Amino acid sequence: MADVNTPLLTVEDLVVEYGSRGKGFRALHGVSIDIKPGECVGVVGESGSGKSTLGNAILGLAPVTEGKITFDGEDISHAKGADRRRLAKSIQVVFQDPYGSLDPTMRVGDILAEPLTVAGESKDKARDAVAEMIERVHLPAGTIDRYPSEFSGGQRQRIAIARALVRRPRLIVCDEPVSALDLTTQSTVIDLFIEIQRDIGVSYLFVSHDLGVVRRICHRVAVMQRGEIVEFGDAAMVTSEPEHPYSARLLLASPVADPAAQAQRRQNWLALREEDNAAAVR
Ligand SMILES: Nc1ncnc2c1ncn2[C@@H]1O[C@H](COP(=O)(O)OP(=O)(O)OP(=O)(O)O)[C@@H](O)[C@H]1O
Ligand SMILES: [Mg+2]
Repeated sequence: MADVNTPLLTVEDLVVEYGSRGKGFRALHGVSIDIKPGECVGVVGESGSGKSTLGNAILGLAPVTEGKITFDGEDISHAKGADRRRLAKSIQVVFQDPYGSLDPTMRVGDILAEPLTVAGESKDKARDAVAEMIERVHLPAGTIDRYPSEFSGGQRQRIAIARALVRRPRLIVCDEPVSALDLTTQSTVIDLFIEIQRDIGVSYLFVSHDLGVVRRICHRVAVMQRGEIVEFGDAAMVTSEPEHPYSARLLLASPVADPAAQAQRRQNWLALREEDNAAAVR
């Protein structure tokens, strides 16, 4: 068992530049984070701040222009081909839209078994592993004979989670995995993420624009603004008493269930806006 204090993943001074070098667009400007085994690290920030780019760089889907990504002691910054296929066993992904990531022409059982049979597992072993994962994400056993279109959004996201889990990864990059779901379904899928983490100790990089969601599920949270991390710390602290003004603004903009707290936040928000306007005039 790895030391729980040794990070499973380390991202150091990561720069991602899209397009050709020199003329391209710099989406990340020297981002550093680490994720420990069994830890959930949230990434929040407004649209376009670079959250997905960070997840994609870890998955090998965005170019690493500078800096270093280390997974379990291995430099994976520029891993390609066979190395990436090997890493796919350990680093998996759940995206926002399970429609786009589940092949509509395949039965769910085959979708879930495919990563295993491609990796050389026997049909019997794959079938057992799939049955176990279906149970783990609380879907009925009959799910395996049906097609993705026959399920609701929340159920499809459970299927996507089962597929991410089936090879027993150590890290799952979750990119807005509950953002497309209604609030009730969102809540049950978040519970599922928490339960899975408690049971099997997988780590998550959990990208979300919703502070309420990261507060519930994450141990630590990184706040991104224009391709930089402006604050990285304990989730309870960052989502209640942030240090950086930008995090404070995000917090003020996030809806809370308590109407009194909501009214207070609106007040604070208006006061900040007035300060901004005054500063703009000056
Ligand atoms: N493949 C790409 N090629 C060029 N530019 C890109 C590419 N992907 C993202 N970008 C740009 O990089 C910046 C960061 O995008 P990214 O998708 O990481 O943001 P995000 O924080 O995930 O936003 P959202 O909350 O809307 O998903 C944006 O300005 C975006 O336009
Ligand atoms: Mg995104």
